[in-house]
Amino acid sequence: MRFYVNVDHVATLRQARRADEPDPVTAATVCEQAGANGITVHLREDRRHIQDEDVRRLAASVRTVLNLELATSPEIVGLAAGLRPHQATFVPERREEITTEGGLDLKAEIARPGEPLRRAMDRLRKAGIRISLFIDPDPEAIRLAATLGATAVELHTGDYAGATVDRRPQPLARLQRAAALGRQAGLAIHAGHGLTYRNVQPVAAIPEVEELNIGHSIISRSILTGIGPAVSEMRALIDAARAR
Ligand code: PXP
Repeated sequence: MRFYVNVDHVATLRQARRADEPDPVTAATVCEQAGANGITVHLREDRRHIQDEDVRRLAASVRTVLNLELATSPEIVGLAAGLRPHQATFVPERREEITTEGGLDLKAEIARPGEPLRRAMDRLRKAGIRISLFIDPDPEAIRLAATLGATAVELHTGDYAGATVDRRPQPLARLQRAAALGRQAGLAIHAGHGLTYRNVQPVAAIPEVEELNIGHSIISRSILTGIGPAVSEMRALIDAARAR
């Protein structure tokens, strides 16, 4: 099972101050050293966290693989084609949303004049990039993803993650069915969104799922587990200055 860490929210913290720390590229190296099989970032059109320069630096420094999440904006697709990350995961994007709210509406994408999604997929595929589509765990979405020639689908785990423990069986069963169906259709199965230390295991146990993408929960945990040593280090510096 591949486990990719999404470091977007390291950049969220940096952008809150428009400072140069914390650096998502340094964080990516630490994640790799700790056992992540890949690094995921989402270059959003509004650049609210990850910036173009972060993606350029990650493309040069990641030693595992880089999974770039993106929408179909020609500018970002062009950047991806030039940087050639290992994988591009297409996601829907709305400026007002706090985070990605659902999977791609592939029926609407196929009906869109000029089919920007298909064109973007073709462009990146020609650049040698593996293509994944972020979709809801829905049979029709799986069928359409296969029709579009995606290599993989990332199943949106948000409904499962958002359910109380007693209501989890139904969305979990949907994920299990979608994973089996996707595999039958020849797709590689990924999953992610909203996964935490408390809810990851039933999804990690789905046999067809070969890649998990997890971000917010890991960055949140790292702040709490890291704040003690960070305060101690500052305390020691202050005390040493007074002792001179
Ligand atoms: N997968 C996709 C396609 C996403 O858009 C995101 C969020 O950027 C994630 C996984 C990670 O979600 P979370 O931060 O909730 O772990």
